[in-house]
Amino acid sequence: MLSLAALSLRLRASGCQGSRRSIATVISGNETSKLVRDRLKQEVDQMRSQFSGFRPSLVVLQVGDRDDSNLYISTKLKAAAQIGIDAKHVLRSIMSVNENPSVHGLIVQLPLDSVNRIDAELVTNSVNPEKDVDGLSCINAGKLSRGDLNDCFIPCTPNGCMELIRQTGVSVAGKHAVVIGRSKIVGAPMHDLLLWNHATVTTCHSKTPDLPEQVGRADILVVGAGRAEMVRGDWLKEGAVVIDCGINHVSDETKASGKRVVGDVHYSSANQRAGFITPVPGGVGPMTVAMLMENTVTSARRFLLKNQSQR
Ligand SMILES: NC(=O)c1ccc[n+]([C@@H]2O[C@H](COP(=O)([O-])OP(=O)(O)OC[C@H]3O[C@@H](n4cnc5c(N)ncnc54)[C@H](OP(=O)(O)O)[C@@H]3O)[C@@H](O)[C@H]2O)c1
Ligand SMILES: *[C@@H]1O[C@H](CO)[C@@H](O)[C@H](O)[C@H]1NC(C)=O
Ligand SMILES: *[C@@H]1O[C@H](CO)[C@@H](O)[C@H](O)[C@H]1NC(C)=O
Repeated sequence: MLSLAALSLRLRASGCQGSRRSIATVISGNETSKLVRDRLKQEVDQMRSQFSGFRPSLVVLQVGDRDDSNLYISTKLKAAAQIGIDAKHVLRSIMSVNENPSVHGLIVQLPLDSVNRIDAELVTNSVNPEKDVDGLSCINAGKLSRGDLNDCFIPCTPNGCMELIRQTGVSVAGKHAVVIGRSKIVGAPMHDLLLWNHATVTTCHSKTPDLPEQVGRADILVVGAGRAEMVRGDWLKEGAVVIDCGINHVSDETKASGKRVVGDVHYSSANQRAGFITPVPGGVGPMTVAMLMENTVTSARRFLLKNQSQR
């Protein structure tokens, strides 16, 4: 972990006249997510020995059969199997899962794929808030927006971003944070998390007139816009912490697949100016899955505590 002292040294060094500009420290989601998964595995092992055979359980509910959803689900199931969560893949059964005491987490894979239009909002909100490990129900979103951080489930992508910011050692309190995007799964909860970790937060969106100017004020920048390489290095404040949630497929003739994945930040210019930066891939992506596992284990822990206090 890098300390704040290390950051201020970097800043001074890069501010020196004529000195070579330093390259941003890479914040590795690959490594950080492994730390999280290893910690969870230990905790799950302990639960299992203390409460003979107990396993945190996550259900992924899929409607339809979209190929891209199938890929996400198999990644999540694999991560769950590795740390000992018993993940079941069920279709259309929120109510029975809500009532099943052996299930601690329930997520509905979006988008819903069905011939009949299904109200995604209604589906998300029918998940029991105590099992809503995606943090998307209005109960959990409301608690987060009001700052009740210890009493809710926080959506996995912004929660992973916070974990990566923590890894830099840069404190959030009192900093100016800028979020690009205001979606329910990324931008809006990211705004709330930064705010209640005591940053002063500006949230930008497609109607924000001068994005580069706003970005230039950010000590901490989180981008979730879905626009390939939109944020340019010369927009950034020197030494900023840059967290890139973007996953964009662009064509690349040099690759066998004919395409490659880039973020919402133009990496090769941004890493010349940022203090810390997340790569794509290997940044926010792996953290999202790790935080889903964390929320599931947290839910299981709460369940065990509640069960014990009822005896
Ligand atoms: N790593 C992960 O696990 C993970 C998870 C989820 C999402 N993602 C990625 O994160 C990105 C965002 O996802 P999302 O679901 O939040 O997308 P989304 O629902 O499409 O929301 C995009 C947000 O960005 C804003 N925006 C779009 N173009 C903009 C522009 N030119 N300038 C300023 N703001 C702009 C939109 O503004 P308006 O509100 O005005 O339309 C909207 O609020 C995508 O690349 C997605 O693939 C990654
Ligand atoms: C992270 O891991 C992925 C998948 O194994 C790999 O494609 C990527 O290059 C890694 N990224 C970094 C920065 O280590
Ligand atoms: C929950 O409590 C009941 C008794 O009230 C007990 O039979 C059961 O084994 C407990 N479950 C776990 C997982 O500890």
